[in-house]
Amino acid sequence: METVIEVKKATKIYRPLDFWKNDRTTGIENVDLAVYRGEVFGLLGLNGAGKTTLMKVLLGLLKPTSGEVAILGGTTNDIAVRSRIGYLPELPYFPKYLKVKEVLEYFADIFGIPRGAQRKKIGDILETVKLSDKADSRVGGLSKGMQGRLGLAQAILNEPDLLFLDEPMSGLDPLGYKETRDIIIDIHKQGKTIFFNSHILGEVEKVCDRVSVMHRSHLIDIQPLSAIMEKYGSLEKYFVGTVTEGAKI
Ligand SMILES: Nc1ncnc2c1ncn2[C@@H]1O[C@H](COP(=O)(O)OP(=O)(O)O)[C@@H](O)[C@H]1O
Ligand SMILES: [Mg+2]
Repeated sequence: METVIEVKKATKIYRPLDFWKNDRTTGIENVDLAVYRGEVFGLLGLNGAGKTTLMKVLLGLLKPTSGEVAILGGTTNDIAVRSRIGYLPELPYFPKYLKVKEVLEYFADIFGIPRGAQRKKIGDILETVKLSDKADSRVGGLSKGMQGRLGLAQAILNEPDLLFLDEPMSGLDPLGYKETRDIIIDIHKQGKTIFFNSHILGEVEKVCDRVSVMHRSHLIDIQPLSAIMEKYGSLEKYFVGTVTEGAKI
């Protein structure tokens, strides 16, 4: 199995202990993790557990206070590595006055997709995320679900080998869940690696190969979904049990 993400003892402290030794804000602490090529890896955790921090450390958007992160055999300082990564942030924002196709043209420029190839590429991506009929609509007029799909389109525009999705289903309705899930499954089928976190356990259960739990800045468990289902019968039972156990940390 080829490792595409390797993390060793990664810690991110946002604010160190002050003179009185209180008020420290820790994002993640001593995280060890390996993610393998082609898997859908799910990260669960309560609000504030450290999921977004971990993702940003992996993406190189935050520098770890200590520890090491290797990604696609290199680091995110490497432009060749960066160009193979896609990222849907927790709260994507696109200017409301831009048209859907203009947003994607902007990102296509950033990704260095030649102007001549952009029209076809953007057309294909809009089809993948089912927004073809909205190419000329302004972002401000899109529903939340459509904006989420535009976020996904932006994240997969460069055909990444490794895709990070931070809460891709939050704020969507059940139809939005299904549409997002179908896109994730589609990308997975192409052999890509997906790292994502979500509170929607039913969706995590439907797409993940392995699931991990982050609690109070620590990655306290990682297991194949099949083992979890065998042992606990549902992801919810596993998650609640693991977090309750982890509360002792
Ligand atoms: N930019 C920041 N500055 C200071 N503290 C932060 C910052 N971002 C996150 N934190 C803190 O780090 C912890 C983990 O946050 P986060 O990674 O956003 O958790 P999650 O994504 O699991 O909800 C929380 O205690 C949060 O308040
Ligand atoms: Mg978060």
